[in-house]
Amino acid sequence: MIVKTRAWDTAAALGFALALTGCGDARTPEPPSGAAIFRQACARCHGPTGAGDGPEAARLGGAPALGALRDAAQIRAIVTHGRGAMPAHDQRLSPAQIDLVVAHVLTLAR
Ligand code: HEC
Repeated sequence: MIVKTRAWDTAAALGFALALTGCGDARTPEPPSGAAIFRQACARCHGPTGAGDGPEAARLGGAPALGALRDAAQIRAIVTHGRGAMPAHDQRLSPAQIDLVVAHVLTLAR
């Protein structure tokens, strides 16, 4: 019994480790990641690197660069509920997807 339990634990740990590391292969379909969500949901306005230079920015009178933002709660609130010309995303993205994309926005400033 003890051996069986250990084997299961090991398998679970391995599966978890694979889930964490299995994100880098460009040949497989892209797993949901903050960067992928940003490309799909944000880049058309904010630009691929968040510089505010997406193709739709001009039509809106500009979209802000996101690189200086540091407050995750504030970013989450704006993404969720929208602000001004920025559309709400609570019907387009799940809370988990919003968390991923907020984490990605926080990486944009280097
Ligand atoms: C249709 C174009 C559009 C899309 C799509 C869009 N945004 Fe925006 N976003 C804007 C505009 C325009 C503003 C400025 C809003 C205002 O008037 O304050 C803005 C503002 C923001 C702000 C606040 C910036 C600041 O300086 O306070 C954040 C953060 C933000 N967007 C993140 C995102 C993220 C993350 C996504 C993708 C999930 C996204 N946006 C998708 C147009 C867009």
